[in-house]
Formats: sequence, C-alpha cells, structure tokens
Amino acid sequence: MNTHLSISSTPFHKIKSEAVALFLCEEKQARDGQLARLSDKVRAFIAPAIDLNDFKGKEGETVLLYTDGVVAAPRIILVGIGKSNDLTLEKVRRGAAQAARKAAALEATTLALLFPDERLLPEGTNNLSDLAQALTEGALLSLYKFDRYLSGAKEKKKVSHIIFLADPAKVTTRVQSAIRIGKILATAVCHARDLENTPGSDLTPSTLADEARRAGRKFGFAVTVLDPKKIVSLRMGGVVAVSRGSTQPPRFIMLEYGKKFKSRGTHVLVGKGVTFDSGGISIKSSAGMAEMKMDMSGAAAVLGTFEAAAQLAIPIHLVGLIPAVENMPSGSALKPGDILRHYNGKTSEVDNTDAEGRLILADALGFADRYTPTVVIDIATLTGACVVALGHVAAGMLGNNQNEMDAIKRAGERTYERVWQMPMFDEYEKLVKSEIADVKNVGGRWGGTITAAFFLKKFIGNYPWVHLDIAGTAMLEENTDYATRGGSGFGVRLMTDYLTTKAIAASPAKRSKSKSGKTNDLKK
Ligand code: BES
Ligand code: MN
Ligand code: ZN
Repeated sequence: MNTHLSISSTPFHKIKSEAVALFLCEEKQARDGQLARLSDKVRAFIAPAIDLNDFKGKEGETVLLYTDGVVAAPRIILVGIGKSNDLTLEKVRRGAAQAARKAAALEATTLALLFPDERLLPEGTNNLSDLAQALTEGALLSLYKFDRYLSGAKEKKKVSHIIFLADPAKVTTRVQSAIRIGKILATAVCHARDLENTPGSDLTPSTLADEARRAGRKFGFAVTVLDPKKIVSLRMGGVVAVSRGSTQPPRFIMLEYGKKFKSRGTHVLVGKGVTFDSGGISIKSSAGMAEMKMDMSGAAAVLGTFEAAAQLAIPIHLVGLIPAVENMPSGSALKPGDILRHYNGKTSEVDNTDAEGRLILADALGFADRYTPTVVIDIATLTGACVVALGHVAAGMLGNNQNEMDAIKRAGERTYERVWQMPMFDEYEKLVKSEIADVKNVGGRWGGTITAAFFLKKFIGNYPWVHLDIAGTAMLEENTDYATRGGSGFGVRLMTDYLTTKAIAASPAKRSKSKSGKTNDLKK
C-alpha cells in the first residue's frame, strides 16, 4: 500500500488538498459544536447545504461542495456520522471509507480528513488515538483495488496522500503511533485480499509458500516449507490424499514469530490453504466455482496476522501452520470411499471429496500438538452451511474453551470482524460416526458447520482450541463501506487484536509502556 499518511496542523481553510472531508453528526446542537471549530466564512459556506436539508448528517450520507476559493481546497466532502450519542469507532471507519471512496471516484490524489470531534466518542475510549486508527483503517481499506491484471490501471489517478487535520496540542506520539498501527493492519489485510483474489493458476501451493517466505524475510519471522517428500514421511495422510488429484504438489508452510517470548506460552494459528477447490471427484457445479480460488482465505488471514504481529512487535510466541493443496479431479485423485490415516494416527472415511478442508486441517491440528500450545486457533473457509447460517456478516465460531472463545468474541466486537458461537451439542457428533473408520468426513445435510467442527475435534491434541469458519465472511459480493468485493482479508484484524490483548494481559509489567495495536473497548 503506497498511500502516504501525514498529520497537519494547518487550519481547515488553508489546507491545500484536492478534497477535504468533514464528519458531521445529525443533531443540530452537537453539530453546531463541531462547526464552531471552523472559521465564520467556512461555516457560512457550508450552512445552505444544512439549512436546505440536503445534508442531514445521517450515516452513509455524503454531500460534495465546490468551494470556488472560499477555502484552499477545491472540494469539501461532508460526511454524515449519525446520532452523536451513538458514535462508535466502527462508524468512524465507515465515515472515513465514505470520504475516501468519494475522493477516489473524483480521482483526487490528496485527501484531507478533519478529525471528528473526539468528545463525541463514549467515555473510556482513548479518544484521539482510537479515532486516528479507525480513520486510517477505514480510509485505507476502502481504497483497496485488485487491479494487478487490469491494463491501464497504472494511469488511473489514485488517492496517494491522506492528511489528518488535527489540533497540534492534541497530536501526541500516541496519535502518531495509532496511525502507524492502522496502516500496518490495513496493509496486512490488503495483502491477504491480494492473495485471496489471485487466480488459482497463479497462486498455487508452491507460490503461496514463496509469498510466505518473502513476507517472512520482509517483516522478520521464520518460514519453513515442507515439500511433498517430507509431508509423506510425516504421514500427513489428508494433505497427501487431497493433493493427489492435482498436478500441483502440496506444501506444508510453517511460520514462527517471537520465539523469545516462548516462556509465556505458544499460540498456534492454523489456516486452510486450498488454493483452488473444484470439489475433486465429488465435483462442484460450475455456478460459483470461480470463487473457490479464495479457498485459501484462512491461510491468507494467518499470513496477514504474522505480518501485522511482526511489525507491531507483539510480545508473544506465534506458530502458523498452513497446509496448502489444490483439490482437483483426475485419474490419480482421492476417491469417495477412500480411508485416510492422518498425522495423529486416526483414520477418516471420505464420503465426499469436496469436504477436503477438514482432511488437511486434521493433519495440521494433530501437528500443532507438538508445540504444547497455550491455544490453537484454526481459520478456514470450511462450509457452505456457515454461509447459509450467518451470511457474510459474522464468522462461525466453535471450540472447546469458553474463555478463549469469549476473548475472540470481544476482539471481534472491537475490530468489527465479528464472530458468532455455534453449539457443540453431542447429538451432532454421532452424525460424523463411521462404521469402518474413526470418523466420516461428512455429516449429512443438516448442521454442516457443526458436524465439520466435530470432525476437526477428533484430531486436536490436549489443548484449548477455537475453530473459525469464515466461508461467508472471507468472500464478499459487493463493496460496502471499507469492505471490498472479493476477498475480504477477514481474520487479520480480529486475530491481531486478540493476540495483542492476550500479550498485554500476559505481561503486566509492559502494560503501560505498550505501543502495540490495542484498540480500546468501545461500548455499544
Ligand atoms: N470450500 C468449501 C466451502 C465453501 C463453500 C466456502 C462456499 C465458501 C463458500 C468446502 O471445501 C466445501 O466444499 N464444503 C462442502 C462440504 C460438504 C461436502 C460436506 C460444502 O459446504 O458444501
Ligand atoms: Mn470443498
Ligand atoms: Zn474447500
């Protein structure tokens, strides 16, 4: 991401930017308080838009004004942020996205954002720095475009410089570091989006491994890639079997960061890395199959989280495990009826080769036990059933440890990458019983997200475990606010926030000195 960010104390009417945005709330009294920060001339210029009711301050509303010399910037964008009492950081992210999208549509190359009045935010938030991080995330994430394959994309003007206008007395190093944190997070999310959106023929298990190696070198974490020979010798039966139908050999990608913090425990992140899922012999119908280039979204989220964690220097030991395969039909492919033996020695009966994600995760979850982890989180585009249940808004969450799930839920509320817990009642477990193997890879038509989790549960070690099904949240059908069509990068901000919060909890001595990516709780 090459958008340059800076803070300026230049007064609103003097800023030389191709567009300047102003965030205003709905109620007159609070809005007048906000407008009091501007000069009389600017206030008088904006007044008609408000008096004529063309601009009401509602969420999602934008009005464009051409200034004709009233201020140095040629355009003012008024952005509604809704009722002043209900302002949240999520609304700030969305407001920044509105402004940035508008500027991008106008092909403005510079955009100035006047900080919303931090007094509008609820008590207990670290107002100005949280605002700064939210503005940065919202603006940068909304500007993302997957245009690498588009001829002529380079000629199109982009928003290349965002200027935050703030009272110099209030611009502390915390505000500056919040902007830096926002940019690190947005950049990691956008890299995950790029990986998701890259076509299956260009992003294969081996090129995904190359990407991981490159990221490891750039940001400072260790990357070890296991080749097919090693995968076979480790008896990762699921990875071997699923990749057998493809000409693309599998990879097992291992990431490690923060080894020096090992004494405080090890967090393992497991990401499903199916670089293309045709369904295999149980082939999918052609409608929507193209989306399955994004079936490595879990892997992208894990890699993005490592990129963010390393740059933020989160004091925590992290291990990432990414089984990477392509699921294809061919004469050598895995067949329905096959029985596999996974890393931990347990067997699975393959009833449907399209339930391949759980087959490769089984090996990785077994392997994770080697690290005697504090917790293992797996993240995967695992079931269509999860999309049916929760749509594109929230990820499904299941697991065996309520404390860890609660911590992830809170991180989801802060980042707005929300998760929704589903039950693991034992009645569902029977549905994946097999007569001839330890477990069967499909559980019938109903409760598909839950039966998939019960399959995974057979392969975990003796550790706290959380499973995130991101089948719905990873792939989006349209642009909304700061989310963009296609791969969403879901999970990067969620897991980074969760890990940051845990790292702070684990090292109370560093609590006050921490400069890492904590976003404060924001009451709803
Ligand atoms: N990758 C898919 C799940 C998926 C579907 C992700 C739609 C995103 C959008 C997964 O490998 C799959 O095919 N699951 C099957 C499992 C079934 C055969 C038990 C499914 O959900 O249909
Ligand atoms: Mn599948
Ligand atoms: Zn899949």
